[in-house]
Amino acid sequence: MFWNRIAGVYDLIENIYNGKVNADVTDYVASLMESGDSVLECACGTGMFSVKIAPRVRRLTATDFADGMLKRTRKKCRDMHNVFVSKGDITALEFEDNKFDKVVAANVIHLLDDPATAVAELKRVVKPGGMIIIPTYIHFGKSAAASVFNKAGADFKRHFDADTYEEFFKELGITDVQYHVSEGRMPCKVAVFTNEK
Ligand SMILES: C[S@@+](CC[C@H](N)C(=O)[O-])C[C@H]1O[C@@H](n2cnc3c(N)ncnc32)[C@H](O)[C@@H]1O
Repeated sequence: MFWNRIAGVYDLIENIYNGKVNADVTDYVASLMESGDSVLECACGTGMFSVKIAPRVRRLTATDFADGMLKRTRKKCRDMHNVFVSKGDITALEFEDNKFDKVVAANVIHLLDDPATAVAELKRVVKPGGMIIIPTYIHFGKSAAASVFNKAGADFKRHFDADTYEEFFKELGITDVQYHVSEGRMPCKVAVFTNEK
């Protein structure tokens, strides 16, 4: 699988190419956390967000469907005793309804055949009134990182810009969304909304 093949170089590419954006966006997402929160992170990758979220919450469940990426998250979080790492597909989550205070799914929506199902799953597992946080790179298609990933066999389904990202949520009927943009070489736009059930 593509993500297992590139797991060993993912952090290097991200840090060199987009370190400023990644530092800002992970800090922003961490700032939304509260000490009593039980948080689900889907598509955690190598744990770039996990290491910032975990110190601020009661419990973090970090999931991804690629073993190679999970291995790196496990290594990075090995001294964080409130982090539980497990394999899972964001489009078919193995958690009961209304379980988490917050859910985070970063830089994965553009990879999915059926992103609407993923968003429905995030809404299902978060408590009523809980927070859903979805950061996604915008202008990714034009970036040098995209061409590296494409050459390595990545299969990106969509490339968002600032406007089409907002359209995506409107089309799902999610209108009360706060947005934050971390600017830089490959900007990341964070969508934050409350789960009204
Ligand atoms: C671009 S990386 C982002 C990783 C991390 N969230 C970050 O921002 O650094 C995309 C991640 O999504 C994961 N992924 C892709 N499709 C998935 C799916 N259907 N379920 C769970 N994880 C998935 C990949 O394995 C990869 O780790």
